[in-house]
Amino acid sequence: MSGYVLAIDQGTTSSRAIVFDEKQAVAGVGQKEFTQIFPQSGWVEHDPEEIWESVVWAVRTAIEKAGISAAEISAIGITNQRETTLIWDRATGKAIHNAIVWQDRRTASICAALKKAGKEKVFSRKTGLLLDPYFSGTKVRWLLDKVKGARKRANAGELAFGTIDSFLIWRLTGGKVHATDATNASRTLMFNIARNKWDDELLAALDVPASLLPAVKDCADDFGTTDPGLFGAAIPILGVAGDQQAATIGQACFEPGMLKSTYGTGCFALLNTGSEMVKSKNRLLTTIAYRLDGKTTYALEGSIFVAGAAVQWLRDGLKVVKTAAETGALAHSADPGQHVYMVPAFVGLGAPWWDAEARGAIYGLTRGTGPAEIAKAALESVVYQTRDLLDAMRKDWKGAGQNTVLRVDGGMVASDWTMQFLADILNAPVDRPTILETTALGAAWLAGSKAGVWPDAKSFSKSWSRDRRFEPQMEAGTRKRKLKGWDDAVRRTLS
Ligand code: G3P
Repeated sequence: MSGYVLAIDQGTTSSRAIVFDEKQAVAGVGQKEFTQIFPQSGWVEHDPEEIWESVVWAVRTAIEKAGISAAEISAIGITNQRETTLIWDRATGKAIHNAIVWQDRRTASICAALKKAGKEKVFSRKTGLLLDPYFSGTKVRWLLDKVKGARKRANAGELAFGTIDSFLIWRLTGGKVHATDATNASRTLMFNIARNKWDDELLAALDVPASLLPAVKDCADDFGTTDPGLFGAAIPILGVAGDQQAATIGQACFEPGMLKSTYGTGCFALLNTGSEMVKSKNRLLTTIAYRLDGKTTYALEGSIFVAGAAVQWLRDGLKVVKTAAETGALAHSADPGQHVYMVPAFVGLGAPWWDAEARGAIYGLTRGTGPAEIAKAALESVVYQTRDLLDAMRKDWKGAGQNTVLRVDGGMVASDWTMQFLADILNAPVDRPTILETTALGAAWLAGSKAGVWPDAKSFSKSWSRDRRFEPQMEAGTRKRKLKGWDDAVRRTLS
């Protein structure tokens, strides 16, 4: 068998496919952006057919660019934007509605009603999550309530629910497999992460029939084979993980106490807590980092909804940069005497604030404030939010000590300026890896190791290397003043 492994990374704004060779090096990439649909304020949807077409296109392109045939690929690993919710017809494979994206806030009132009924405790105890529209459970409920005939058809067993991984598995296998992995299941509000199974009490509270649900497998497991009509060969799908968990794996954070932070559309920091399910007292999430050979490893997670999306807003909304890559240089040219703070609560605030109703704000504007200061405030906001997460992690778990090193990845980490500011504000070293494709690499590792063509976790960890370490250089007084400014800005923004 060859060492070629294909990773499908179905993200929030684009679908990517990467062929890795036997040395875990990138051999071919295909990437396609797709439409973001905003039907109302706070609502975000994706067209399932556009997602599917973009994935098929990306896979074909990656294989072509790698200069190989599909038959040479030993295994596929899938990683995906998590929580985004789909329900489709088992007979036709067609979705009954657009996908409701993780950022979508339409179910805030369902969450509020469940909270009012005193349900948050049980959801939090069993799932490690909070009652926030972010997660899939209330989105499923909304679809069943609002799409005509959906509940009846669901009860009759005609429909299937899935996060994007399940939908892709279904389509890739020609409707033969309805499955997900433990990490994606752990984001649904319906999965008991201690017992590793769907939970009847939670399903009843959400009014979701169990007949909708996929089988939950390990992250490295048999998810079926691709329909040969798609790429010209039946390729086994052997790895699945939500994108943040895949990045944790790709960053080789296999030991308790290891921490990674990915700067994509949002920013998600995951701290490996081993077999311990650490219960947060600071509104972080307890989640499944990965499940391998039936053994669950947990993580504490801090989720920030807007990171790269703030840069996208500078580019597409304010039009102060033409490309995202220009932002670092623009920020660098800002007047250091101005103290501008941006709280990018475009879709509410995530951890540790969890304020679905908050909206973005900028403070400290003067007549001298221009695009550079706004760009700087946008980049800095991502850093300050990361600091809030690390503070909460340190309070929650002794394993997140003062010696924590943060492994970073995602588009924004290319900016040296931002990474230095991150190390300064965290007062901790920040490591940028040589291979920045950590999310896809994590998914590929799950599949490649399961196929027996890639190294085991130990050897894989050893091969992790850094491109650069950023050490904190900021003077303590400056850091303190800046953090106070941020804290004031957030408090003024809360709803
Ligand atoms: O929880 C949402 C997350 O999985 C989305 O990740 O990389 O698409 O911003 P990303």
